[in-house]
Amino acid sequence: MESPRDRYVREHSSHVPEGIEWIAKQTHIHTNFPQMLSGPVQGELLKILVETSGAERIVEIGSFTGYSAAWMALGLPENGHLDTLEINDELEHIMREGWERTGVADKITLHIGDARESLRKLHAEGTVYDFAFMDANKREYCEYFDLLMDLVRPGGLIIADDVLWDGKVYETPLPRDRQTVSLLDFNDKIRRDPRVEVVMLPLRDGLSVIRKL
Ligand SMILES: C[S@@+](CC[C@H](N)C(=O)[O-])C[C@H]1O[C@@H](n2cnc3c(N)ncnc32)[C@H](O)[C@@H]1O
Repeated sequence: MESPRDRYVREHSSHVPEGIEWIAKQTHIHTNFPQMLSGPVQGELLKILVETSGAERIVEIGSFTGYSAAWMALGLPENGHLDTLEINDELEHIMREGWERTGVADKITLHIGDARESLRKLHAEGTVYDFAFMDANKREYCEYFDLLMDLVRPGGLIIADDVLWDGKVYETPLPRDRQTVSLLDFNDKIRRDPRVEVVMLPLRDGLSVIRKL
């Protein structure tokens, strides 16, 4: 259920493009986890971050139904490109039609497989990114970050989603489930890493904006 605060915030952010609205609708109809969508406020923020940082190459870890990829691709310039990495191939039809409807299909390449393997392959090919969005398996966040540090250029941005994990990372006593433990490790690791600066935003389930120095 959307809280009055979230509703007010959504109603005072920009309109959602039709193609992206279509992806959200299909996600609610065809999947059991529509709460995995980034949502319109975070989507608009990602688009604005892509636009204002001047990013031309983006990598996304965790495509799901292609919702956040569509938002970010809208922020790209004419020659921009986004690689999105997803382990599950069952939702590809929603992604492809949604990107067509949003007018960004020619800017996005979908890589099916374990993101860690795809990231290693992209690195071996010499690909460099200006912008990365991490939104897949929380237990693998530290690994994604280490791999991204080889792929993102100095001055580039890495955005990590769900870093507050429904408040579990600051509960006392701390839960010891594997996802919470991994996120605690990840949040501490970023804060200590002298190669980056970070600001954690309390938006939705927590969004860390990390800049590689
Ligand atoms: C939270 S959803 C992504 C939501 C999407 N970014 C959005 O905002 O619409 C996480 C996705 O990560 C995928 N995933 C989990 N582990 C993965 C891995 N190791 N490699 C690639 N994708 C993975 C899941 O299948 C799922 O579709």
